Amino acid sequence: MNIYKSYFRPILFKVNPETIHHFVFKTLKFVFKIPGAAFFAKSLFVNKNKKLERTVFGIRFPNPVGLAAGMDKNAHLYEEFIAMGFGFVEIGTVTPLPQPGNEKPRMFRLPQDAAIINRMGFNNDGVEVVANRLRKKNATLIVGGNIGKNKITENSKAIDDYEVCFRVLFSSVNYFAVNVSSPNTPGLRSLQDKGPLLEILLRLQNLNAVLAIQYNCTRKPILLKIAPDLTIDQLDEIIEVVLESKIDGVIATNTTVSRENLKSDKKEIEFAGSGGLSGKPLGKRSTEVIRYLSGKSGGKFKIIGVGGIHSADDALEKLNAGADLIQLYTGFIYEGPSLIKDINKALLAKT
Ligand code: FNR
Repeated sequence: MNIYKSYFRPILFKVNPETIHHFVFKTLKFVFKIPGAAFFAKSLFVNKNKKLERTVFGIRFPNPVGLAAGMDKNAHLYEEFIAMGFGFVEIGTVTPLPQPGNEKPRMFRLPQDAAIINRMGFNNDGVEVVANRLRKKNATLIVGGNIGKNKITENSKAIDDYEVCFRVLFSSVNYFAVNVSSPNTPGLRSLQDKGPLLEILLRLQNLNAVLAIQYNCTRKPILLKIAPDLTIDQLDEIIEVVLESKIDGVIATNTTVSRENLKSDKKEIEFAGSGGLSGKPLGKRSTEVIRYLSGKSGGKFKIIGVGGIHSADDALEKLNAGADLIQLYTGFIYEGPSLIKDINKALLAKT
């Protein structure tokens, strides 16, 4: 029996999603301060097994299941999420300056579809504050830094925002995710076009080399997070850009602007309004994108598969399609922490 789904979720789902998000964060922070709580959580949720470990882009992951960006935007709870079984956590999206994001309400559940629509708009504390929080990070914990641009920054200056975030976070994170695919920052997704994208990634690669010398460490892996709504031609361009800029890989995918094939009431969907859709209905499309990128590139770069993973089978499908690691967000909200353990158990059963 899934205790989370039977007892906790019905209560949590009675409250506005953003309110409950903050309440759960505060509660977990408090609970994990109780002596022995982290140990207890680990013994309950963490599946420690050498067979689950993966080395991807030079990083040794304890298991391939990560927490996707957007949940722990400000790096408040990454230790607790790792104690709940995640192999890694991606913080962010962070921007150079703190910003409040879009007007509330901006997050909506569609329970009939096991989905979420959000238009948060990169609400975050700003890269300096987040980097400071991460400076105390235990070196064994794997945290990715998802970086973006401020809403007030024009696209022609976006490159500078990515550079600031990269520089400030460099010594605090294990890898970078360059987010050009959120539907909630006006114009952001046009940075997925070949010209601006190549310029951003080449600039970050140069900076990467400089900072690696400065900090006397290796370069940080850089991944590009893309939208599921790209056409085949656009995906071909993404492959060219990844290979030309020699970044390490792609995170596929972010949320979709599509509202096709939803079971929810039309009124409910209209009430939620604009934003990115995540969860079950996204699963098929994000797997198609992964399969296409992996097949067309001949596996020349790494892929983190994310979008609509709600079961161990969904996770295996992503890995079979060519993903090297996977991430969850909406599936974690709907299924709870046992989903991570279920996926890792299924992976162990296959070895
Ligand atoms: C997100 N996601 C997201 N992605 C990102 O790169 N930066 C971000 O700030 C956010 N913020 C965010 C907020 C909320 C409320 C949701 C639901 C999602 C997208 C997320 O990381 C992931 O790519 C998609 O949600 C698809 O995965 P799931 O949710 O179907 O597992």
